[in-house]
Amino acid sequence: MTMKRIAVLTSGGDAPGMNPAIRAVARMGISLGMQVFGVAEGYQGLLDGKFRALNLRDVGGIIGRGGTILQSARCEEFKTDDGRDRAAKNLRAQKIDGLITIGGNGTHKGAYAFTARTGFPVVTIASTIDNDVCYTDVTIGVDTALNTALDAIDKIRDTASSHRRAFMIETMGRNSGYLALMSGIAGGAEIILIPEAPLPPAEVKEAIDAAYARGKNHCLVICAEGYRPGIQAVHDYLKPREKEMGFTVRMTILGHIQRGGAPTAFDRVLATRLGVAAAQQCAEGNFGVMCGLAGNKVQTTDLARVVACRKTIDLRFYEMFKKIELASPDLARTLAADSPMRSSPVEESEMNPTP
Ligand code: F6P
Repeated sequence: MTMKRIAVLTSGGDAPGMNPAIRAVARMGISLGMQVFGVAEGYQGLLDGKFRALNLRDVGGIIGRGGTILQSARCEEFKTDDGRDRAAKNLRAQKIDGLITIGGNGTHKGAYAFTARTGFPVVTIASTIDNDVCYTDVTIGVDTALNTALDAIDKIRDTASSHRRAFMIETMGRNSGYLALMSGIAGGAEIILIPEAPLPPAEVKEAIDAAYARGKNHCLVICAEGYRPGIQAVHDYLKPREKEMGFTVRMTILGHIQRGGAPTAFDRVLATRLGVAAAQQCAEGNFGVMCGLAGNKVQTTDLARVVACRKTIDLRFYEMFKKIELASPDLARTLAADSPMRSSPVEESEMNPTP
């Protein structure tokens, strides 16, 4: 089937790189002889009929812009059969032949349920700062978010050192520790707290004590937002123990600055590759798939597999981090005590993870 008219939308939390993805979809779509439409405000825009034609000029000058020119939304109504039926009706009224959705897990789930219910053809593109989507090594926006977090961590280290402070810094990531782990490794953090391998507050204090004993002027604790019992609980545990620790304690939540800003070169290139691939899938009539990156190759995966899968982070990165950052022998002994991840030493052969 030859596609004539396709629509593109961005959904869920925005991510730097969504604009270059929209641009690539539009340009490739047009170059393949299709008419391309943008839908404003994600799935909500489908329900509200917010379609507009995207021509080459509409996507000019956006490759380096953060956010999404189409705007994004989280839409409860699209989770209902009525909502999905209405969305399909609106798309068909516009004579749209295929829909490309750009976003994270919620977006792929929505697209899968939508096509299952209505039969409307969809292709999705993996984009979220959380990097928690299966069947892609990396999602559009992660690299920029990591660099934003890293910039903040580097700055906080300056002031932490000047004042001999233990600084707790919270990164985003929903239930995934990816952003915390990678920004912590890149930022030379002393301690990283992730949901996948949570240290209790008392062990955080031991690690801070070890950093103090090693003569450090600062101690950076990077904490994923999904870590439990949460950054505030650890802060509240540490605060009354400042005198004992030697460091004073401060806390910074990086929050939504990680979602904004100009996409990095990596994200622009990734977004362009995946946007081009998605338009090609539409042209070829290959629907019901997500476009992602595996082993530096663009890969399409059936949406049914994507939504049935839960991505976990590669804990070998955490083991690697512990080897070089939590290096105090006393602490290593303490950490070896209980959790399965901490129970056995990591073999050298396992210490060559690739991101
Ligand atoms: O999924 C992206 C993300 O930024 C998560 O890291 C975070 O938990 C969530 O979205 C925040 O959502 P909102 O912007 O709706 O508060």
